[in-house]
Amino acid sequence: MPYSQFYKDKTILVTGGAGAIGRNLVEKLARLRAGKIIILDNLSSSCIWNIPDYQNVLFFNGDIRDENDLKRVFHHRPTVVFHLAAFFANQNSVDYPLVSEDVNSRGMLKLLEYCVISGNIERFVYTNTEGGAYGSDCTMPYREEETSLRLGSPYYVSKMAGEAYCWFYHNHYSLPVSVVRLFNSYGPGEVPGQYRNVIPNFIWWAMKGQPLPLTGNKTISRDFVFVNDIVEGILRSGFFPEATGTPINIATGQETFIYELAELINLKTSNPAGTRILQQRKWDTREKIIGNNEKCRRILQFAPAAMLDTGLDLTIAWFHKNRENIDRNAAFFPGLNPALDV
Ligand SMILES: NC(=O)c1ccc[n+]([C@@H]2O[C@H](COP(=O)([O-])OP(=O)(O)OC[C@H]3O[C@@H](n4cnc5c(N)ncnc54)[C@H](O)[C@@H]3O)[C@@H](O)[C@H]2O)c1
Repeated sequence: MPYSQFYKDKTILVTGGAGAIGRNLVEKLARLRAGKIIILDNLSSSCIWNIPDYQNVLFFNGDIRDENDLKRVFHHRPTVVFHLAAFFANQNSVDYPLVSEDVNSRGMLKLLEYCVISGNIERFVYTNTEGGAYGSDCTMPYREEETSLRLGSPYYVSKMAGEAYCWFYHNHYSLPVSVVRLFNSYGPGEVPGQYRNVIPNFIWWAMKGQPLPLTGNKTISRDFVFVNDIVEGILRSGFFPEATGTPINIATGQETFIYELAELINLKTSNPAGTRILQQRKWDTREKIIGNNEKCRRILQFAPAAMLDTGLDLTIAWFHKNRENIDRNAAFFPGLNPALDV
C-alpha cells in the first residue's frame, strides 16, 4: 500500500493543528481523505482564520494540559496522533521557561498517558526540533546517533524531554512512536510575530520597507526545509514500520547563509532598506545548523528538496493573498499570549 492511502478513512488527532506546520499537515490529511481530523489547539500562537476549512476537520479550542479537553478529543477514538502542539520557541522559552516546560514536557506526558489508556493508537508521531537533540558540541552535519546535553534554550531542553518520554512510552508500553527532528521550517501558513521564525519575519519587515535585522555575523547559516517537505516527512514517519523507535532528521543537508537569505528576500520584495546588524542572542550559540538526511532517505524513502528560491516565492505569494489577516494578527505578536504567562 502506498503511504498516501494509509490515512484514508482514519480518525486522526493533530495537536497544534492550527499552527504553522500543523495547518499544512491537516490540509494534506484532508486531501488524502482521512476520515476525521481532530485538531486540539489553544490558539496561543495561531489564528482561527488559518485553520483549513474541510468537512472532515473538527476543531477543538482546548489545551493538551487539560483533562477535559483530552477526554473530549479521545472520545472520538483516534488511531493516529500527530503531536505538534508546543510553546514556541527559543526566545519565548527564555522569557517564559516555566510555561515552556509545562506545555512541552508535562503537557506531552499527559497526552502520552491518554494514548496508552485509550489502547487504540496505531502510531504516535512527535515533532522534536533539531535543537532538542544537537548542541554546539555535536559534529556537523548533525546525525541522529550523536546527541548532546548542551542544549541552548529552555525550549530545546523541554523538547528533548518530550523525545525522552517518547522512548519511555515506546519501550515500556509498546506504544508505536515515531520521532522526527525537524530543521528550520518555512512556507505558507506561518504568521510573523515576536517569537516566530526568521523567514516570515524577514518577509513581513521587507514588505513594510524596513531593514532586516541580522543577529550575528555573516557566517551564520541554517538548513531551511519547505513546509510541504516537513509535512511529507511527518506523514511518512507515521506510516513506515521502520520509522518507529528511532529518531529521523527532516533536513535538506544544504546550508543557507542568513545574510544571503535577507538579501534574497529584499530583492524579491523590492525592499530598498537593506539590513542592519544586531547583537547576537545569548542563547543562539550555534553558527551553523545543517542536518544529515541519509536516515530520512533510507527509512522514509524521500529527501527534502533544497528549493529556497521557489519556496520563498510561494511564501511571499501567501503573504500577499492573506495580507489583511496577517496585518491584523502580526500586530498582536502571535508568538506571545500574555494569558499563558502564569
Ligand atoms: N517551525 C519550525 O521551524 C520547527 C522546527 C523544529 C520543530 N518544530 C516543532 O514542530 C511543531 C509545530 O511547529 P510550528 O512551527 O507549527 O509551531 P506553531 O507555534 O505555529 O504551532 C504550535 C501550535 O500549538 C498550539 N499550542 C501551544 N500550546 C498549546 C497547548 N498547551 N495546548 C494546545 N495547543 C497548544 C499553538 O496555538 C500553535 O497553533 C512544534 O512542536 C515545534 O516544536 C518546528
